[in-house]
Amino acid sequence: MEVSLKNQVAVVTGSSSGIGAGIAKSMASSGATVIVNYPFEGALEQANSVLKEITDSGGNGMVYQCDVSKEDQVVKMFQDVVARFGTVDILVNNAGVQKDAPFTEMTLDQWNTVIGINLTGQFLCAREAVKEFLRRGIDTSRSIACGKIIHISSVHEIVPWAGHANYASSKGAIRMLMQTLAQEFGGDKIRVNSICPGAIQTPINKNAWETPEALADLLKLIPYNRIGQPEDIGNLAVFLASDMADYITGTSVFIDGGMTTFESFSTGG
Ligand code: BGC
Repeated sequence: MEVSLKNQVAVVTGSSSGIGAGIAKSMASSGATVIVNYPFEGALEQANSVLKEITDSGGNGMVYQCDVSKEDQVVKMFQDVVARFGTVDILVNNAGVQKDAPFTEMTLDQWNTVIGINLTGQFLCAREAVKEFLRRGIDTSRSIACGKIIHISSVHEIVPWAGHANYASSKGAIRMLMQTLAQEFGGDKIRVNSICPGAIQTPINKNAWETPEALADLLKLIPYNRIGQPEDIGNLAVFLASDMADYITGTSVFIDGGMTTFESFSTGG
């Protein structure tokens, strides 16, 4: 069996930059038609350049604007994608933001924005995806599963993170959303998993790698001694979405260069 996503349609939320862009490109190069979702008008240019890289290398897809925290927009995105491409086979729930603040200074707006995009957005997209998977049913010319959902979580699904209570809470909750969906729809042959990246070099954590000093500090947390790249996550997402991973469901896969081995304990404890 090969790792292929041929004949499949993948919606990758928040894929105009960062990890999402890496996943979109990897999935397209494995044969999927990819919907490069971007959140607002200002990100259109970036989304177009991701799509251009995809089509320049022989892939297929479209860009689509949708704020995943808005129910009407999410419902419409799935309707439009199904109208254009017939169905959706893969959802990568990637869109996510950080709005960091010391806990006592965190505003309700910072809390609600992060929960709205990182958690409610994943709920809304998963709900529309599952409805479409069930409507279509299994089609073995596409995949032996009825559909696949990949939630992009974080090492902060299990690692507490001072100054980031909203973000860590959203990621912890994604684990329960993922496992509940895997349990609820396993019998329908819908596979649901999470990817938990560590430090990946993207705009969201620029302050952790943009100076040599910051990068040196970051690497103290990573036994494998390099920062991750979006294609590291793209490779894993392709595998998890492919039929090679058919028995994998209900699992969080950590991809972090060993960050969750808690390197600080190598000389202490
Ligand atoms: C965060 C990054 C951070 C990484 C490791 C990710 O989920 O978005 O800002 O560098 O976790 O701490």
